[in-house]
Amino acid sequence: MAWYDHAIIYQLYPKSFQDSNGDGIGDLNGIRARIPYLKALGITAVWLNPVFTSPQVDNGYDVANYYAIDPTMGTMADMDALIAAFHAAGIHVILDFVLNHTSDQHPWFQDALRGADSLYRDYYIFAGHEGKRPSNWGSFFGGSVWAPDPSGSGQSYFHLFDRRMPDLNWANPEVRHAMGDVADYWLQKGVDGLRLDAFIHIAKAKLDQDFPDAVPAATPVLAEPFYANLPQVQTWLRPFCRRLKTDYPDVFLLGEAASANVNLAAAYTAPDAGLMDSVVTFRYFPDDLSGLDPQLPTQYQEHPLDLPAFKQTQAVWQQTLAGLAQPTLYWSNHDMPRLGTRVAHSAQQAQSLAMLMYLQRGLPIIYYGEELGLTNLQLPDAAAFGDPTVTAFVTEATAAGMTPEAAVKLVSTTHKLPARGPMPWDDGAQRGFTTGTPWLTGAAAPVASVAAQAADPTSSLAFYQQLIALKKRPLFQDGDYHLLTTAETSYVYTRQLGSALAVVAVALGATTTVTLPQGHYHALLTSGAVHLAGPQLTLGEDAGVVLIREGAIE
Ligand code: NOJ
Repeated sequence: MAWYDHAIIYQLYPKSFQDSNGDGIGDLNGIRARIPYLKALGITAVWLNPVFTSPQVDNGYDVANYYAIDPTMGTMADMDALIAAFHAAGIHVILDFVLNHTSDQHPWFQDALRGADSLYRDYYIFAGHEGKRPSNWGSFFGGSVWAPDPSGSGQSYFHLFDRRMPDLNWANPEVRHAMGDVADYWLQKGVDGLRLDAFIHIAKAKLDQDFPDAVPAATPVLAEPFYANLPQVQTWLRPFCRRLKTDYPDVFLLGEAASANVNLAAAYTAPDAGLMDSVVTFRYFPDDLSGLDPQLPTQYQEHPLDLPAFKQTQAVWQQTLAGLAQPTLYWSNHDMPRLGTRVAHSAQQAQSLAMLMYLQRGLPIIYYGEELGLTNLQLPDAAAFGDPTVTAFVTEATAAGMTPEAAVKLVSTTHKLPARGPMPWDDGAQRGFTTGTPWLTGAAAPVASVAAQAADPTSSLAFYQQLIALKKRPLFQDGDYHLLTTAETSYVYTRQLGSALAVVAVALGATTTVTLPQGHYHALLTSGAVHLAGPQLTLGEDAGVVLIREGAIE
C-alpha cells in the first residue's frame, strides 16, 4: 500500500491562497504560514498549481524555466522551506508538471526560432511552408493550433493552448529525456508526486490532415482525434513513468486526462500499465443541454449538471476501476466554475454533494475554498477575463439581445477565471488575503471567512473537517463500493469492509425516500433534513446522510 492510496488531496492555487509581501499575489511564504490551517482541515497532501518562472500568459502553465520559482511566488529557498514545512506537518506535496508545452520565452523555444540549424528546432513542432497552415485543427484557446514562425521561415509552429505556449515534440527522444531530467530534479528535492498536465496530448497524428467537419474546410475546429489520447501517448510515457517509479518508488503520478473516458482511464491507471497511479477526467459531469438558448453561442451559457446521468457516470467509474486503480473524486478545479456556482444552489446542497462524492472509493481532491462554500467571483467586465473567447461571446450575446452586463454576469458563472478568487481568511481589509490589491478582484457572494467558520461548529468548514475525518476510516478508504437501486431522485451506495457497512444517501433534488438494507443504523454525518424510521429513510430536499450499520467492527 502506497501513501497515495489513502491520500486526501487539497488543490491549492498559489496565486490566490495567501499573499505575504503585499503585492496582491499569493506566494510560497504565504502558503507556509497557512499550513496549520491545512493540518486542522485534515488533508494529507497538497497539489500546487505551477509555481515555476513564467510570463503568466496562462497563470503559470506557460513555463519559461522549470528549474526556478517565479519571482511573484518567492525563491527556491522559499520552495525548499515550504516542502520541508509540509513534510514536517505530515503533508505530501504534489507539483504540477507541465510537459506538453513550454512558454515561448523558454530558452529552448527562443533558440529554436533561430531556424533549422538550431539544436532545439526539433524540440518543437514546426511544419508547413510559405505561411500555409498544415491543417485546420483548432486550439483549445480559440483559433488555429498553428502560428506563423516569427522568424519568417514560412513554417508554422504547433500550440494546442495559447500561441505563446508552443507544444513540445515528444516524438523527439531528447525532449523525453529532458523532461525526465526536470521531473528528476524536483523528485530529488523531495517532492512526493507530480500532476502530469495535459499528458494525453503529447502525441499528434500526421500533421497535414484536415479534420473533416469544418465548414469551410480551412476553419479551425477542435480536432481531438488528431491530438488527444493517441496510442503513442502510452508508448512514450511508459518508459518515462517507469524511470520515475524505479528511481522514486513512492512517487505519485496523477495524470490530467481531461477527455479520457472510463476505459482510457483504466488503460492509463491499471497497475501493469506502467503509467499513472490515478487520473483526473472531465467526463465526470454530464451536462444537461436541454435549456440552452439557441440564439446564443453555447460556450458560456450555463450547462447544468444532468443529475441522473451523473449518478450513472459515477457508478460506471466506480465499477470499472474497482480493484484496478483509484479514481479521483472532485467537484471543482481551477479550470471550471466552483461547485457552489456550477451545481449547488445552496451551501447545504454543496455539503450533501461533497459527502456523495468524497465517500466513494477513490482519492478526494478538494479545491481550495470549497470547504468554505466559496463561489465564483463576479468580474466587472469582459476585459477582466483577458480571454478573447469571452469578448466574442459577449459581443454575440449582445447582438442577440442580452445586455453586456447580463452577458458578463453569465460568463462569471461559467468561466474558469472567476473560480480562482482569493481565499477569505478573515473579515478585515481584503479578507486577510493581502495587504495590497488582489491580482483578481470582483464581487463575491458573502461567504463567511475561515476565522468565522472556524469558530462555528455548524459551518461548512466544520462539515468538511468531519467529512475528511470520516474519509480516513478504513471503511471509506478500503471498503467495497456498491450502488443501491433507488429512484432517480437519490444517489445511494454502500461501503463495506468485513462486517462493517455504511450507507451514503443523498437526495438529488426534491424530498425522497429510500429503503435501507437490513440492520439498525445511526447517522455519522448529516446535511439537511433526514429522518430515519426503521428501514425507511426520508431525505429532505438536497439532503444527505452517512449511516453506519450498528454492531459491526470495522
Ligand atoms: C490544463 C490546466 O489545468 C489548464 O489550466 C491549462 O490551461 C492547460 N492544461 C494548459 O497547460
